[in-house]
Amino acid sequence: MHVDGQPVRSCVLPVAAAKDKAITTIEGVGTDRVGLAIQEAWRRLDVVQCGYCQSGQIMSATALLKAKPAPSDEDIDAAMSGNVCRCATYVRIRAAIHEAAAALA
Ligand code: FES
Repeated sequence: MHVDGQPVRSCVLPVAAAKDKAITTIEGVGTDRVGLAIQEAWRRLDVVQCGYCQSGQIMSATALLKAKPAPSDEDIDAAMSGNVCRCATYVRIRAAIHEAAAALA
């Protein structure tokens, strides 16, 4: 999820740390143009396999593109590190982030 626009792992964030903060979850990320572009690129490139990790991947990717509209492969790898995908969709994730960035340019 995003807390005040920053990606955080909800599973380790104490509730008290979210008090009075702006919270965006996967259900709301597509309501702005960057989150929507990421979701559309994910669909076009058929990124998802089992789906288990994908909420976190999409939230991190959206935060990356908001901070850096034209990320390099190295930027993507740095921003997405820690988001483990047991289905190894990393190549499609990187491609989808580049595609979303191009769509938004
Ligand atoms: Fe299966 Fe990432 S899509 S763990």
